[in-house]
Amino acid sequence: MKKYKLLIALSLIVVILISSCYKDKEELLYATSTTGDCSNPSIQKGVKFTAVAAIIQSNCVSCHNTGGTSPNLSTSCQIVDKWDRINVRCVQNKDMPTSGPLSVANQNAITDWVNAGHLYTN
Ligand code: HEC
Repeated sequence: MKKYKLLIALSLIVVILISSCYKDKEELLYATSTTGDCSNPSIQKGVKFTAVAAIIQSNCVSCHNTGGTSPNLSTSCQIVDKWDRINVRCVQNKDMPTSGPLSVANQNAITDWVNAGHLYTN
């Protein structure tokens, strides 16, 4: 009886190990990037992302830079990573930048990008 329990436990571990390996491979195979390859220089920025990056550059990076106020928004990947907080603070709460809300056109540009999937390639 004890041997059986050990066997069952061992085979469960093996199954878990194998299935976790399978998931790793699946991600590699289908490359389901959640960022749109923001750090890959050979992949082109999307038009909507480019517009948002320009807005962040001129309205946010003076404070949100390396060593400055968190979050750092000075690179493409950092912007893509913080899409949700950018959307909340600039479009929903309208309390960033601290000097007053972005223009409606700039808020719409953020909304467009978020709705398109908020990737580097959007
Ligand atoms: C004058 C400086 C300044 C500018 C410009 C500025 N921020 Fe901020 N930001 C702050 C400070 C200070 C905080 C921390 C206090 C707070 O959260 O309100 C902050 C916090 C944040 C946070 C982190 C808190 C959270 O909600 O996750 C986000 C995101 C943010 N700002 C986004 C932006 C964006 C996007 C812009 C440009 C449109 C911007 N900020 C422009 C000063 C600034």
